[in-house]
Amino acid sequence: MMNQFDMLADIQEVLVDEESIRRRIREVGAQISEDYRGKNPILVGVLKGVVPFYAAMAQAITIPVQEDFMCVTSFEGGTASTGKLTFRKDIDHDIEGRDVLILEDILDSGRTLKLIVEMFQARNPRSVKICTLLDKPSGRTEDLTADYVCFTIPNAFVVGYGLDYQDYYRNLPFVGVLKPEVYQD
Ligand code: IMP
Ligand code: MG
Repeated sequence: MMNQFDMLADIQEVLVDEESIRRRIREVGAQISEDYRGKNPILVGVLKGVVPFYAAMAQAITIPVQEDFMCVTSFEGGTASTGKLTFRKDIDHDIEGRDVLILEDILDSGRTLKLIVEMFQARNPRSVKICTLLDKPSGRTEDLTADYVCFTIPNAFVVGYGLDYQDYYRNLPFVGVLKPEVYQD
């Protein structure tokens, strides 16, 4: 149970600061705009962690895109993926023949994205690619790589810029390592 607490005091170390996030999103957005020129891709955001990243990346992309969202959860309030995925909301668009670019906050074990990619592939899109704010390759259990990675991070539990612990800390404007004592009770 989380009562009164100080978000900043719970951060052990800032891994990626606001300005670095802004700069890197502009770079990757420019690359995506070049790669997808003439294709009108569908940007699919995986809720809820992707919200700040999605907003910034969509604006950094300068070609026409359609926007869509889906909601899945693989955690049940803890810090490790349960492996059990709950689909809460599917996308609205028909993706047959379309270029789909999935936006995610973090690629860890890869279980979540692997299932989403497989589900999309069955709908016969022209292409499915992944763009992630953070990549934690040390956590990977599935054979999956992102096509666009903004930052590769070490094996730590991070919060901020959309990433949460028990739905808190998402509104921090940077990515930081959460002090282990916060979740080791
Ligand atoms: P995966 O299925 O193990 O790749 O996990 C992906 C999901 O786990 C992400 O969408 C996040 O919601 C969550 N996640 C993984 N690592 C972290 C972390 O360090 N902090 C917060 N959430 C995380
Ligand atoms: Mg989460």
